[in-house]
Amino acid sequence: MNAIGQPISRADGRRKVTGGARYTADLTLAGTAHAAIVHSTIANGRTTSIETSAAARAPGVLAVLTHGNMPHMNRLAWSHLRPQGQTYLPLQDDKIHYAGQPVAVVVAETRDQAAHAGTLIEVEYAVEPPVVFSPPMARDAGVPPQRMWPLASSSGDAGQAIADAPVKIEAAYTMPDRHHNAMEPHATLAVWDEEGTLTLYDSTQMVVGTRKLVSLVLGVPEEKINVVCEFLGGGFGGKSWSWPHTLLAALAAKAVSRPVRLQLTRAQMYSMVGHQAATVQTIALGADRDGRLTGIRHDSVNPTSSFDDYVEYAAVASRHLWGASGGIATSHRVVYVNRNSPVVLRAPMEAQGHFALECAMDELAYATGVDPVELRLRNDTAIDPYSGRPFSTRALRQCLTEGAARFGWNKRPAQPRSMRDGRYLIGQGVAGAIFTHWRWPGKARVTLDAAGTVLVEAAAHDIGTGTYTTMAQVAADALGLTPDRVVVRLGDTRLPESHPAIGSSTAANATAAVLLAAQAARDKAITLALAGRDAPFAAAAARDIIVADGTLSLPRTSRSITYAELLARNGLASLVGDGDYNPVEEALGPKAIFSFSAVFAEVRVDPDFGLVRLKRFVGAYDAGRILNPKLARSQAIGGIIWGVGQALLEKSETDPASGRFMNRNYSGYLVPTNADIPELDTLFVGRFDEEASPLGAKGIGELTAVSVAPAIVNAVYHATGKRIRDLPVTVEKLL
Ligand code: MOS
Repeated sequence: MNAIGQPISRADGRRKVTGGARYTADLTLAGTAHAAIVHSTIANGRTTSIETSAAARAPGVLAVLTHGNMPHMNRLAWSHLRPQGQTYLPLQDDKIHYAGQPVAVVVAETRDQAAHAGTLIEVEYAVEPPVVFSPPMARDAGVPPQRMWPLASSSGDAGQAIADAPVKIEAAYTMPDRHHNAMEPHATLAVWDEEGTLTLYDSTQMVVGTRKLVSLVLGVPEEKINVVCEFLGGGFGGKSWSWPHTLLAALAAKAVSRPVRLQLTRAQMYSMVGHQAATVQTIALGADRDGRLTGIRHDSVNPTSSFDDYVEYAAVASRHLWGASGGIATSHRVVYVNRNSPVVLRAPMEAQGHFALECAMDELAYATGVDPVELRLRNDTAIDPYSGRPFSTRALRQCLTEGAARFGWNKRPAQPRSMRDGRYLIGQGVAGAIFTHWRWPGKARVTLDAAGTVLVEAAAHDIGTGTYTTMAQVAADALGLTPDRVVVRLGDTRLPESHPAIGSSTAANATAAVLLAAQAARDKAITLALAGRDAPFAAAAARDIIVADGTLSLPRTSRSITYAELLARNGLASLVGDGDYNPVEEALGPKAIFSFSAVFAEVRVDPDFGLVRLKRFVGAYDAGRILNPKLARSQAIGGIIWGVGQALLEKSETDPASGRFMNRNYSGYLVPTNADIPELDTLFVGRFDEEASPLGAKGIGELTAVSVAPAIVNAVYHATGKRIRDLPVTVEKLL
């Protein structure tokens, strides 16, 4: 029986629920000292004095580091190819660029001693008024240098097409800053050995990239750095790049010649490790009276730090999702303000862009009188409008039709405010989505031992999605074993180099390397069985050998041999297979590869209090072949919940006077809890996509967070007749 496709429970589930899984902040080593960061209370200016003598005399204190005694670090130019969360390096000079910037680090025997000594440090500042972002500043946004993708795109003449269209929609959509709010705080345990090798136990989604970055900034050769991260308690993009605390931990450990553990406080999680930048998006749609799009214009502006050009590519959604006969134009600009650098967060770019695009599509549905599902079917396209290439697979039509059937969409009256449940208003909304499929190289090693057990190794990550389990399924099938024979080791730079857990890419890429490695190990076994010592299948052809249940056999004969016997017979302790998956970059391939969804939300709105409750939700997804439906559904549930937060709850506020993020804990920043989440129904309509991956899988995790917000906002409109264009949808906006 194939393990792929089975709803197998996660291999690390028991360890996780019993506390056996060790997260970075759980780790300690003999002689570990503890570091605490003291951060700036102002957002702009410089420090004029940092008085540390009382802190240095405090109980347990081993060292106090400020820009006055901190070793030099190498400043790098910003590059999206380098996992540097921000280029401004900590404790290198007296400048203050954002509130919460590190100004000192205390190292002490215990964490409490370090934190206490930190409170004794007196910092004086020369304060400048901070530049704080507000949406009207989008008018004066600047054009940053091009980074990951072109900032602007234009096909046809979108402006003319919209001007000439019989039906036009134009509106601005705004989203606030948001924070990742992973439950696990960022932490680093840094240890230097006698040979000068640095080992960083770091809460990171990219051990390999972290090693690269730390090597460049600290000037330590990569061979002398190990980075380890076995489990993540929420990454959400916040742990996808490296932040100042990791560098500070490394240098603090060097300064005191002991292992140093540095764990950010919950409050520091709001200023030291990135956030999602607010977006101000304008969309203009032109369509004929049947709702067929003739033009799309989508422009997005986001704030970034004063020192980095972080672009939130929100308008990219409009480059690919729907066809428009007359043209599509998109652009991105930024506003430089006093804050730390933004970074990717939970379906970055797409989750913001689809809010604007899919709400605008709903507005178009009402303007033309075309049903919102039918409108989307009419604008489906087999060709990617941006690149002109056909999509590898695109089951968006099935997502819309099968999702609608599951939801019971055909019973929905078109008119807003036409559904009620007692005193509550009921509304139903839909949105479609497209999600970038990332193709990244990765290596893996599979070792089959004489006991018939298998070790899979890769410097990839299980960010919580179930990679430990899916990789075991893939290796098991390739080797003709059951997944319980397979142990998977991840998250250590000493393992074969792989790619980060970013962009929902692991199942299609890092896991494909495991497939190749397992196939290589199996082929070695077959070669031994054909031509090794006392070969049982001498003279047979390799393609005729069957491997199943840990046994190689030749059909229509009684000849068979177990892996264990085969290895013993050849005097081998193990067989090793190496996998090197090296896909061509998506943009260079013949097909446009994306995953797709259509999602359906039903909300209940209290007309007196403006309170919105999600009542039920159906998500239909095309993520190619599903490797494990149980884990896929778990991811979808998580993604939908992220979307509920985006739609109804999440918002980081900045104090315009001080430039500080104000909500710095879980009571000040709302995320969905169990009581906010109703029954979530998911269905997977995709099929094997050979362009996307040898496993046929396309990205899924973040796909499921995209378009949840517009489906909810569209349902709120259907319930109330009120169009909300600013997230989150809160009580005061509905009253
Ligand atoms: Mo994810 S926000 O692509 O790390």
